[in-house]
Amino acid sequence: MVTAAPMAVTNRQLRLKSRPKGMLAPGDLELVASPIRELQDGQALARVRFLSIDPTMRIWMADIPQYMPPVALGEVMRAFGVAEVVESRSREFKKGDKVVGMTGLQEYVVAGGQEPMPFRKIPSIPFVSESAFLGILGGNGLTAYFGMMEIAKPQKGETLVVSAAAGATGSIAGQIGKIHGCHVVGIAGSDEKCKWVTDDLGFDAAINYKHPDWRDKLAAATPKGIDINFENVGGEVMQAVLSRMNLFGRVVLCGLISGYNKEDPGLASFATVLIKRLRVQGFIVIDYAARFNEAFTELGKWMMLRKLKHRETIVEGFEKAPDAINMLFTGGNIGKLLVRL
Ligand SMILES: NC(=O)c1ccc[n+]([C@@H]2O[C@H](COP(=O)([O-])OP(=O)(O)OC[C@H]3O[C@@H](n4cnc5c(N)ncnc54)[C@H](OP(=O)(O)O)[C@@H]3O)[C@@H](O)[C@H]2O)c1
Repeated sequence: MVTAAPMAVTNRQLRLKSRPKGMLAPGDLELVASPIRELQDGQALARVRFLSIDPTMRIWMADIPQYMPPVALGEVMRAFGVAEVVESRSREFKKGDKVVGMTGLQEYVVAGGQEPMPFRKIPSIPFVSESAFLGILGGNGLTAYFGMMEIAKPQKGETLVVSAAAGATGSIAGQIGKIHGCHVVGIAGSDEKCKWVTDDLGFDAAINYKHPDWRDKLAAATPKGIDINFENVGGEVMQAVLSRMNLFGRVVLCGLISGYNKEDPGLASFATVLIKRLRVQGFIVIDYAARFNEAFTELGKWMMLRKLKHRETIVEGFEKAPDAINMLFTGGNIGKLLVRL
């Protein structure tokens, strides 16, 4: 049913004011109040409930070549979110529907316009929260799925090392490795994170890269060398992993978060890639957009079978979004990082 939208609500938005140098500084994102325009036919107004906080947001803020245009100065900061329809002049969305898509860092979003990535209605599934559609059943689950199934192609008995292993993507990639019979070793930045991925997620070992002897521990945990590296971090962490790769190993280059705040991110040595004859493949999850439904089916099945677990770190309050983005770079999150409005 189409309902009229006699609304006069103010929207609060976080707009990109200046491009960060290093971590986000106060004022790089500016809080702006703006009126919500009257809805046109085909549009729906949705109130944002959760914002997905992703490392790629830091890339979008930089004026560098990337897989999407950088966010322009003055523009609402790009972000994924889950929102609830509060008024509708759309036949597709009715009041009360929950939708997922590119909400941006703002309290209200108009859906059903001309957005390049259309909003999707969230199905109601018992025991699955709406926020899961930003993490395990959203970009992170899809990234882990296609990185593992299409690039890593894990085989029983192989050794898989995952960096940022207690994060939203790494935690799922490692569990997919376990589902396929791999010996899975995680690398993460605290003992608490290491305990979570071994005790709760079933990784065979986890190494805290902040301990001085972590390279020795990595060697001890990978006695047969490393066949697959699911790489989220880059820099020194990646270098240490590459140095233990077996000949003809596969490197799934998912992310390089250790370099996102740097002008000149230190890369791992390509001499190792040559000497070990490694196959390194970068990818962006949207490459697989035509196959997302296949991944949702598999991920959902593994979740039902309790072979795939997830966890969320939730920051309360819209105005905390800039601090939350910085938390990704100090390791403040376990599992998926979200802001609840
Ligand atoms: N290719 C794609 O399509 C795609 C899609 C989604 C995500 N990604 C990439 O996947 C990676 C993980 O993203 P996510 O969304 O799942 O985030 P996340 O892993 O949930 O959070 C980021 C984590 O990275 C670790 N980290 C930050 N700075 C680090 C550093 N200097 N050295 C080592 N570890 C560091 C922190 O954990 P510790 O406490 O362990 O340090 C932090 O919790 C990122 O590189 C992201 O860009 C790629």
